[in-house]
Amino acid sequence: MTHTAPPGDAIAAVTHPNPYPWYAALRSGPAVVRDERLRLWIASRADVVRDLLTNDALRVRPVAEPVPAAIAGTPAGEVFGQLVRMNEGDTHATHKPVLQRALAGLDLASAHEAAMHIAARMSHAPLSGLCLAYPVRAVAHLLGFADEELAHLSDWMREFVACLSPLSTPAQLDAASSAAAALMERFERLADARPAPRGSLLAAVQAEASEPRSRTLRANLVGLLSQTCEATAGLLGNSLAALAREPDLRRRLASRWELLPALVEEVARHDPSVQNTRRFVARSTFVDGTLLAPGDAVLLVLAAANRDPALNPAPATFELMRTHRQTLGFGYGPHACPGQALAFTIAAAGLRALLSAGLRTEALLARGWDYQPSVNARIPRFH
Ligand code: HEM
Repeated sequence: MTHTAPPGDAIAAVTHPNPYPWYAALRSGPAVVRDERLRLWIASRADVVRDLLTNDALRVRPVAEPVPAAIAGTPAGEVFGQLVRMNEGDTHATHKPVLQRALAGLDLASAHEAAMHIAARMSHAPLSGLCLAYPVRAVAHLLGFADEELAHLSDWMREFVACLSPLSTPAQLDAASSAAAALMERFERLADARPAPRGSLLAAVQAEASEPRSRTLRANLVGLLSQTCEATAGLLGNSLAALAREPDLRRRLASRWELLPALVEEVARHDPSVQNTRRFVARSTFVDGTLLAPGDAVLLVLAAANRDPALNPAPATFELMRTHRQTLGFGYGPHACPGQALAFTIAAAGLRALLSAGLRTEALLARGWDYQPSVNARIPRFH
């Protein structure tokens, strides 16, 4: 039997084959732990994570660096700087409700149908390529883009999301900027087609917005695709990994498509794609007696919080029909994800398309997988 060493820290945990025992040990320690090497405070208990996500002494970006220095002044920096995800204040207060209401109004049954057709038409090899491209194509379709644009949009989006990662090279950041410019231009063209495609998510967003043609709104439409990209790829991939690992789950699921939504919801709790998020201290604040000082950064380990027994009983057990399932994997408080229901729909539709086309998940286990390098997203790369 091969023995895998535990992850060395909370960032290595993201792409570790099984970080969960290490997360459990972390959770049983103090409310926040200092990692001097990473220069981060680490929070892992559900109550602490919730408190920090609603503590207004903390911000989504460092006060002195609203846009990462490496992309400031570039098209990628322009988009980044206007995203609700990266802002508090007016930009967040104006645009978050617009996105939230438009997403809440989606007809998820039709979205499921459309997404399934998109996945069915894509090449299933390599599987990890499909996992990364399909969710963006599905959301781009819902926004109103034509079929022939979907492949370009998912390619640009994969390049653009590199600007969100500290692991990217200068060449990747350059490509991210070209992609940001291309994406803004495509959204402008789509918005110019008046009226916006009928029944589309774009039409719904524009109907909610007071300035439907502003650049900030357009950046946030690009943001819908970037928020979808890796997070939903990871949810789909980790669902396939769960099926690969668990013969019992495969037997229960066999052609019982109505169970797929429960599968993706339990995966989002048990092995979430977004393992952590960060906050930056703007004003001194105490957490359980520990001082967090201005300039400090805090890593909130959502994946550890999901397995806090105070949040979900018997948290390590994969329970398809778990009652009162709770997840912090979509955030909490003012910045909570407005796309959760859509993400579940897209992941379930993707699984259905793959399984009904004959994908054998047991073969995935035989070939194995590792995880795409990342400081926060857990996205399997199937061999
Ligand atoms: C499995 C898929 C997804 C996961 C795990 C996920 C997770 C998250 C998390 C954790 C946050 C909050 C980050 C923080 O507070 O630091 C967030 C924010 C956000 N998500 Fe998602 N997301 C997913 C899919 C989507 C989709 C499909 C959309 C829309 C099409 C979306 C749109 C957004 C937006 C706009 C925000 C920013 C909200 C704000 O800052 O107020 N997400 N997401």
